Amino acid sequence: MTQSTDTGMNRTAGAALSAADRFGVIERPALEWTPEVAEETAHLYERVKDHIPKIEWPVYAPYVAAINRLKKERNAVILAHNYQTPEIYHCVADIVGDSLQLAKEATKVDAEIIVQCGVHFMAETSKLLNPDKTVLIPDMKAGCSLAESITGADVRLLRERYPGVPVVTYVNTSAEVKAETDICCTSSNAVQVVESFGVDRVLCIPDEYLALNVAAQTKVKILTWKGHCEVHERFTAEELLAYKEADPEIEIVAHPECPREVVEIADYTGSTSGMINYVRDRKPPKVLLVTECSMASNISSEVPEVNFVKPCNMCPHMKRITLPKILDSLCEMKEEILVDPAIADRARLAVERMVNLKH
Ligand code: 13P
Ligand code: SF4
Repeated sequence: MTQSTDTGMNRTAGAALSAADRFGVIERPALEWTPEVAEETAHLYERVKDHIPKIEWPVYAPYVAAINRLKKERNAVILAHNYQTPEIYHCVADIVGDSLQLAKEATKVDAEIIVQCGVHFMAETSKLLNPDKTVLIPDMKAGCSLAESITGADVRLLRERYPGVPVVTYVNTSAEVKAETDICCTSSNAVQVVESFGVDRVLCIPDEYLALNVAAQTKVKILTWKGHCEVHERFTAEELLAYKEADPEIEIVAHPECPREVVEIADYTGSTSGMINYVRDRKPPKVLLVTECSMASNISSEVPEVNFVKPCNMCPHMKRITLPKILDSLCEMKEEILVDPAIADRARLAVERMVNLKH
């Protein structure tokens, strides 16, 4: 990794000047559907044509063209989570992936500015790993029910209650919480992280369901917290079994933030990228992605032979990120992610321990 040990977050220039002061504000370009815009974006429309009607593209395309031009002008890179809408995922993102992939890619980013299309904890993670870069999130209110379920003070109390028990924190937490813990994990490496201590008891917080799903795959005793993802906790085994009964050919592919009884009936469980890879590799004729709605839209053009069966649940936080907000973010250099340096150093260590784990 190339980061300096200096957090760089509120150093003299950074502390006094906002990102807008440091980089300057650019006036929002005219957003017109011109022959140039049509030509510039034609190849991108091909990627989203199954989700955006042709008649609506003239509304999207001027934003796509303006964002892609501004990215170059600003020397910025857009990181987008797999739950972002198709026009973000396919038309303006430079790097897409699950939480672990985005955290890893964030360590390699060359650009001066990172625009994080995802939720707040993801942008904070990018900032922790890139203290000298400017990290922007197009909507500061893009939160996460898991991240909001626990505070640093809660973790300190857990440590008092379970002295000596290592604390593994899901990356879906604030920097303040990460700073109190030993190591982070994501849904794709949680079992490996839990087992990396070689002890018989580990606290795995704050997602109760992820912890129960990890516990089913390891001999390590898992202690947890009562946090839930508001998107995945709503799926029930009954509704999924009803789909399966109606059509036994359907394969159920679930995220480990789902309740245990949902995961138990799934044909595959994994991180968002794990789910995407499963569908890409196996191409089941019919699949029910038990997760956020945009996942099926984002992958469907790659696997036209797969029939994606609903239901899905929408993450209202992920959906706060839109093309107009991304454009404003790049024009006005907002909203800037800053992390208190006293917290950042300790939180970074927890993320770096995870990123540096050998696979
Ligand atoms: P992944 O790490 O699997 O991308 O999950 C992130 C998330 O927020 C799922 O709800
Ligand atoms: Fe948080 Fe759930 Fe939304 Fe993921 S889907 S960001 S865990 S609320």
